[in-house]
Amino acid sequence: MIDNDWELIDLVTGYQPAAAITTAHRLGVFSVLGRAPTPVGDLAAELEVDRSNLAALLEALVGIGLLERDGARYAATPYTVDRLGPGGEMGLVVAKEAVFAGAWSRLDEVVTAGRPVMEPWRSQLDTNPEQARAFLEALDVLARIGGPPLHELDDLTPGKQVLDVGGGLGTYACLLAEAGSYVTLVDYPLVAGWASEELEGTGVEVVGVDLFEHPSCGVPPGSMDAALVSHLIHDLTEERAVGLLRRVRSAITPGGLVVVNDFAGDSGPGAFGALFDVMMRVETGGAAHSRATLESMLAGAGFERIRRVPYDDPLAVYTGVRPGGG
Ligand SMILES: C[S@@+](CC[C@H](N)C(=O)[O-])C[C@H]1O[C@@H](n2cnc3c(N)ncnc32)[C@H](O)[C@@H]1O
Repeated sequence: MIDNDWELIDLVTGYQPAAAITTAHRLGVFSVLGRAPTPVGDLAAELEVDRSNLAALLEALVGIGLLERDGARYAATPYTVDRLGPGGEMGLVVAKEAVFAGAWSRLDEVVTAGRPVMEPWRSQLDTNPEQARAFLEALDVLARIGGPPLHELDDLTPGKQVLDVGGGLGTYACLLAEAGSYVTLVDYPLVAGWASEELEGTGVEVVGVDLFEHPSCGVPPGSMDAALVSHLIHDLTEERAVGLLRRVRSAITPGGLVVVNDFAGDSGPGAFGALFDVMMRVETGGAAHSRATLESMLAGAGFERIRRVPYDDPLAVYTGVRPGGG
């Protein structure tokens, strides 16, 4: 429970460090300081920005703990150089959050009108493919640093035919192929093209199709030993999610397994799941479904023996079996 004004003030000013970090990233502060410590005047000249306000921003970033002051020069910390400097992959996550911060500033519209403020993903692919790809690259980073080790699940590896449904750029597909499975990734055609580039040489097959326009997700019915549905259910309403899971069931052989990897609205810690739920309503019109709803959706799509894989919160990974088989 919040029971003092300073905690509340910390929460409502949370936009400030976020804006300082995303702005510094966008202006190129971390890239330049990631190469070498630099005096503020030289940095302002290189970035073509106001010296005094840049100095204020740099001081804030020292306070936040991403930069250090070394005499007259500012320097990136070892973490900042590695993760936000040139080639640092957390830059992708920072850029993604900068886009979403704009959408969250319209949360009142979302709550009032009951619909997201972001364009549907399918039209984002047409209107802003660069931003869409950058978003998927950020998801790839997040899956690698915080995703569950699905490639260690016995039912997915080794030697299994596994369908990665809405596999994005193929983080899990690649890990599963490395663990010895025969993986087919299916996604929208444009994303499938990007995934093919990323997955070259891994042996992963890639199929470009709209999952809702094919009865068994772009592969022959019953052709897969297992299917992974990772971070896709939360983009969908309950009804659409059940519809998708039915198509996934058709792709799997009787006795085969579905694995759903998601965040549930009632996953902790703290408000994590609840805020993730709000995020889905802002961005996609889906929802972070509760754990009970994830289970009931799997049952509604015709899966049985539904179990939660015992990963720690906030991971919500469920498996279900297509009835039939031996
Ligand atoms: C949030 S991303 C998750 C990517 C990846 N599975 C992961 O766990 O990081 C959702 C993915 O599903 C794909 N997708 C969503 N709806 C789809 C549809 N109707 N047909 C094909 N792909 C779809 C998106 O293009 C995107 O790559």
